Amino acid sequence: MKFAMILAFVLAPGLAMAPAFAAAAEKPADKAPSTELGNIKLPYELPNRHMGVSTCSSTVCHGSVKSNGNYNVQLNEYITWSHQDSHAKAYTVLLNERSRNIAAKLGIPEASKAKICLDCHADNVPENMRGREFNLSDGVGCEACHGGAKNLQVVNRDVHDLAFLELKPDGNVLFDSSVQPPKVVETPQPNNEFLNVGFANISYLGQIYGNLFGPRFNATVSLPQYRYRFYKDKKRKIKDVDLPPIPQTVSGNPFDLQAKLDENGAPIVGPNLLPQAFSTDPGRAVITGSPHDFEAFDVPALRGIANTAPYFHDNSTETLRDAVDLYSRFILPFFTMLNLPANNPPEPGSFFPEALTPEQKADLLEFLQVL
Ligand code: HEC
Ligand code: HEC
Repeated sequence: MKFAMILAFVLAPGLAMAPAFAAAAEKPADKAPSTELGNIKLPYELPNRHMGVSTCSSTVCHGSVKSNGNYNVQLNEYITWSHQDSHAKAYTVLLNERSRNIAAKLGIPEASKAKICLDCHADNVPENMRGREFNLSDGVGCEACHGGAKNLQVVNRDVHDLAFLELKPDGNVLFDSSVQPPKVVETPQPNNEFLNVGFANISYLGQIYGNLFGPRFNATVSLPQYRYRFYKDKKRKIKDVDLPPIPQTVSGNPFDLQAKLDENGAPIVGPNLLPQAFSTDPGRAVITGSPHDFEAFDVPALRGIANTAPYFHDNSTETLRDAVDLYSRFILPFFTMLNLPANNPPEPGSFFPEALTPEQKADLLEFLQVL
């Protein structure tokens, strides 16, 4: 449930153009031309991690097979680069006969391992700036010119922290019952830029209730129904928690949405704060093995979002309009620090109050369409 909303708080820092130009005016004339730009960093000088060409080349990103005339970016850049641009072959060249000869003359054992060759023939950024999919053999890839792709940072840590909750041994969320009403106990993850989206709760509701909570593009698709056991040790001997915990509802029906309260008046609920009988996607937890990463996802950038329908990791909304409705009704009000309670009346044809006014929703939709 928390997934999509946090997208709005993920920003890509831009170049600080104005101060840099101001500084340029004071530079002495005898400096090399590149310093004329003052503090402006060229893309390849940015501190962002280089994620590798394969992370740019999805068919819904820059790997379209034909150019898209409706859009200001053609989206077939990967095909152009890999088929027509020698930069794609720059690394392979280092393995050929000519390179071997050059290397022999220079007394270098292997051209494809020598910094003097790799600095031009590949995207030779330091090891610690290479992402998991990075391959030196990609040659002069997208990020060698455009700069590293990874600069997403969660800027609203309060929102992030509310998405990481302390769990009891039974997998239900720990509440602080010394205050009334009892409050969730957060477990902030300061170095974690993933989001414990719990968006799988939306998928779950779609699986159980079809289109009741708004149109679900995947309502007729049977998604997997998982419960996961987490262990404290690598050998999987010492059990940690099972997630999601088996629902405890007022009616006793596990698919009801009204959770039972414990003796202190706190709801007995799992990480998504609602009863949830199964998960359709455990997300990042499969990689880290941490229950805190259960249903956490790496949040994609929003650039070009109008062209990448359907939305969310499980394709649960078909249009941006549906995604905006979902935020306004079920996600924004949930994050109290945003101060966007669902105080606006339901729109025609819906029974759910809205966090955003019709005008705000229309503005947001237009903004998303031009990204
Ligand atoms: C300063 C940047 C730079 C460095 C350093 C560099 N190269 Fe190159 N190299 C290039 C460029 C640019 C081309 C393409 C020139 C062209 O196609 O006109 C090239 C072309 C080549 C080619 C010809 C490719 C072909 O078949 O057309 C070979 C072979 C080669 N380099 C080997 C090496 C080796 C071996 C090293 C290390 C000793 C090295 N280069 C270092 C920039 C560099
Ligand atoms: C050798 C350097 C270089 C490489 C490699 C490279 N690009 Fe580019 N790219 C450029 C330059 C320079 C431009 C601007 C061209 C222009 O404006 O005519 C550009 C333009 C673009 C644009 C258009 C941007 C806009 O806002 O109009 C996109 C998108 C793009 N590149 C994506 C990619 C992708 C994806 C890859 C890898 C598959 C890639 N590029 C590889 C140098 C490079």
